[in-house]
Amino acid sequence: MRRTVYINGSFVPEDEAKVSVFDRGFLFADGVYEVTAVLDGRLVDFDSHVDRLNRSLTGLGMTMDLNYAALLDLHRRLVSRNGLREGVVYLQVTRGEADRDFHYPVGVAQTLVMFTQEKHFSTETVKGLSVISVPDLRWQRRDIKTVQLLAASMAKMAAKEAGKDDAWLVEDGHVTEGTSSNAYIVTNDGTIVTRNLSTSILPGTTRAAVLRLATEQQLKIDERPFTLQEAQQAAEAFITSATAFVTPVVEIDGMAVADGRPGQIVGRLREIYIEESRKTAV
Ligand code: PDD
Repeated sequence: MRRTVYINGSFVPEDEAKVSVFDRGFLFADGVYEVTAVLDGRLVDFDSHVDRLNRSLTGLGMTMDLNYAALLDLHRRLVSRNGLREGVVYLQVTRGEADRDFHYPVGVAQTLVMFTQEKHFSTETVKGLSVISVPDLRWQRRDIKTVQLLAASMAKMAAKEAGKDDAWLVEDGHVTEGTSSNAYIVTNDGTIVTRNLSTSILPGTTRAAVLRLATEQQLKIDERPFTLQEAQQAAEAFITSATAFVTPVVEIDGMAVADGRPGQIVGRLREIYIEESRKTAV
């Protein structure tokens, strides 16, 4: 099926949506993006995505012309035009089209593109992932969700070539995050450990929701960096993202996490998160 794509004010068939070769997103990766999950035709954690989009834009000295209501309306119209029940909405804003120059151009209209991807999230039990560790080669403002994703892509390919599902990124002996997710372990006393927010990681929308739900469940949370060795010896490990929700990790660099099966806490958090998302999606 030909999708309908949104580009700079218009909804058009996907093969008619075109961006200039001079677009700064293409030439400089000068743009930011969001990926919002759609469940039952509605948007999950939408407010958090809009907040983060605005934060990312601010980080690059940009602002968005569209406010929350306009963005929600565009997302809803795109979902409806594509008849999407389950999947994601991808949104990208770039600084726009300008002759190639490292300085930011002045008075240029931004490029805004949005498209849907159908995806059948397994909302039941999922199999645990095997991950490898790779050095985190990304830049130092990982809190900004930019479209410069080559390091993440290289890490995913390294995992694929090793016959594994994904990679965890490591810097100074500590896990920063997954290639496109936040990373967590559960210690033997049941504490959820995940790296504290800083410029080293992306502040995940799913992370925020899951930590809130975990607190409501009276689970202990420790936001701090953890080492790969700690992760391999943990009781449980998992990742969160708008596309993985809450997904167990059962093997790290060839070593089973606990008995190599998805843990109880991650199972419960996944269930609660999906249930809550269905209730609160807009
Ligand atoms: N990625 N960390 C990184 C580096 C990410 O790319 C993502 C999401 C996350 C989790 O953020 P959230 O919970 O808001 O999805 C953390 C999206 C899904 C992607 O690039 O496809």
